[in-house]
Amino acid sequence: MGGQVERRGLLISLEGLDGVGKTTQIERLHVWLQERVQEVLCLREPGGTEFGEMLRQLILHGAEVSSGLAEFLVFAAARAELMETVVLPALSRGAVVLMDRFIDSSVAYQAFGHGLDPDVVMEINRLVIKGCTPDLTCWLRGEPYALDSGDRMEVRGADYFRRVEQGYAWLSEQEPERWLVINSRQNPDIIFDTVTTRINLLLDKSLGGKNR
Ligand code: TYD
Repeated sequence: MGGQVERRGLLISLEGLDGVGKTTQIERLHVWLQERVQEVLCLREPGGTEFGEMLRQLILHGAEVSSGLAEFLVFAAARAELMETVVLPALSRGAVVLMDRFIDSSVAYQAFGHGLDPDVVMEINRLVIKGCTPDLTCWLRGEPYALDSGDRMEVRGADYFRRVEQGYAWLSEQEPERWLVINSRQNPDIIFDTVTTRINLLLDKSLGGKNR
């Protein structure tokens, strides 16, 4: 059921704790990529579809949920809809897809943060993404410095964030070739240069100029 999808584009995710500057970087990257490739999509999780944005509202600002599994399945449902309707078609057209959070957020937040079995999270992620693991995951490592939205995750406190950060560290050790680990406390221009240098390599290698 639902075999692997033909994939010609590039999938790049940004990860990190809430408030480490991911969104600023991703907005800059979006503009930078628009000048270099034919098609680039910039998406956020949860969200990116009408259904996903409704689930985002529900899970981040709606009724309290105590089951970590229920919480994860909502993120997974939003992800499944985004993959099938937006990301997979874009990748098969050869687009570059930039994701503000992706599968690794669920492992870090729901497994390491909330205590869900990482194998369960990774197995469901695997079914949802249909073989489309990111080509590159940039992790802005470090403590948050700008928590402002007050959503459900942000009020969980320092211990929760510490476990989430450990989750990211664990994940980056499992697949070092996929992960670019960056100190989020550096000057944003240096972070941007580090990420774009790596993306340039990927564009040369994977797209071979055909999407330029
Ligand atoms: P968002 O406002 O996008 O936060 P940020 O700017 O920090 O990215 O909120 C997304 C929140 O949802 C964030 O706290 C992380 C959480 N989240 C999960 O817990 N699991 C997931 O799978 C995803 C995608 C997000």
